[in-house]
Amino acid sequence: MGWFPEYFWFSVIIALLLSSDSSNYKSWALESHLGSETELRVREMLESAREAEFFDWLKSVRRRIHEYPELAFEEHKTSQLIRDELDSLGVEYTWPVAKTGVVATIGSGDPPLFSLRADMDALPIQESGHWEHKSKVNGKMHACGHDAHTTMLLGAARLLQNSRNNLKGTVKLVFQPGEEGHAGAYHVLEEGALEGVEGIFGLHVLPAMFVGTIGSRPGPVMAGAGRFLAVVQGVGGHAAAPHKTRDPIIAVSMAIVALQQIVSRETDPLEARVVSVGFIEGGQAENVIPERVKFGGTFRFLTSEGFSYLQQRIKEIIGTQAAVYHCTAKVDFMEEKRRPYGPTFNDPSMYKHAKRIGEILLGDNRVQLVPMSMGAEDFSFYGQKMPAAFFFLGIRNETADSIKELHTPYFAIDEAALPIGAALHAAVATAYLDSHAQTQ
Ligand SMILES: *[C@@H]1O[C@H](CO)[C@@H](O)[C@H](O)[C@H]1NC(C)=O
Repeated sequence: MGWFPEYFWFSVIIALLLSSDSSNYKSWALESHLGSETELRVREMLESAREAEFFDWLKSVRRRIHEYPELAFEEHKTSQLIRDELDSLGVEYTWPVAKTGVVATIGSGDPPLFSLRADMDALPIQESGHWEHKSKVNGKMHACGHDAHTTMLLGAARLLQNSRNNLKGTVKLVFQPGEEGHAGAYHVLEEGALEGVEGIFGLHVLPAMFVGTIGSRPGPVMAGAGRFLAVVQGVGGHAAAPHKTRDPIIAVSMAIVALQQIVSRETDPLEARVVSVGFIEGGQAENVIPERVKFGGTFRFLTSEGFSYLQQRIKEIIGTQAAVYHCTAKVDFMEEKRRPYGPTFNDPSMYKHAKRIGEILLGDNRVQLVPMSMGAEDFSFYGQKMPAAFFFLGIRNETADSIKELHTPYFAIDEAALPIGAALHAAVATAYLDSHAQTQ
């Protein structure tokens, strides 16, 4: 019984000392730990999700979503599939939320309100692996596991719906569009879909962790991210007469090299920041100096000062380097269209709660403290509004060949992770409501 905190035993002793009245003892116990009834229900959720019929259903849902990947804010088919499944479970929902999103509601309809979130969009990647349920859409693929995230949240809907009469509050299940660079979470919140929600939990599959394990960390867990697009304008001409041109290729080359010094020379080595240039577009022939060159990249940070500093210096450095070579530059941070993401922060007590549920489900040694990553997540928008916890779910299995990185054409998951994710979602929400419901 390693998950009982010491204050549980302390409160039991105090309660017994104060009164032999059983109702008094009950309210003490409710405040201070997860009751054994809650623990039992949590464990039953994983058992249910692993039953053959339930597991087969999870796999079929995931494979259907995987076959028809859709990009940000175009998740029409996926959204339809989600609504069809919710309809057959008899779960109520609001739709559309942020264009294609769905927010399902299960429980008493009264507070406390707790939220679970899954993202639904795919990536513009051509799937390269060969398997029966490979993407049927050219150039699009669920290479970030959002097909699994959506499936696990549907699994949670089924588990919660089955135990709806025992829910001590309300769960809002958010099927969110546009995570990949389009800040879908921001738009879900803007539309007021999560008014009154007290806390939120989200999951992401991770090929670095073995199937059967989960992990996260308290405090900052992922970086914030912004992007930039630069256009450097020169004067084109014959490559044999460079003195009659203003060469944007040289200006951009120097600007890209100069950008590397922001992190290496201007940033405290103990604070993590990244500036990476991801593409350059310019010129067509070896003997022609082009008129203009475009390039762009991403920058990562852990604080709002980090964000504004990087933004300011990227702009200055590109502008100044262009000027050195008699060119001009425009730098666009696309803040309206491609909203920057803040760092993802795990509220310490929400983290502790989810960790404890994970330990009950999987065992203490299967819940790991993971290192921070400079990846970014629009889950961070929820964390700015309410206590939030974001956990990683292991999918690594050499036999199942689920060892490839996220965002790569061979990415694969071990579907044995699906029941775990479904149960974890449902259990985190159920136990949260149990421990936050008003005691009379
Ligand atoms: C890994 O995958 C194989 C083949 O699918 C399966 O038999 C095995 O149970 C999986 N391992 C775990 C830990 O789930």
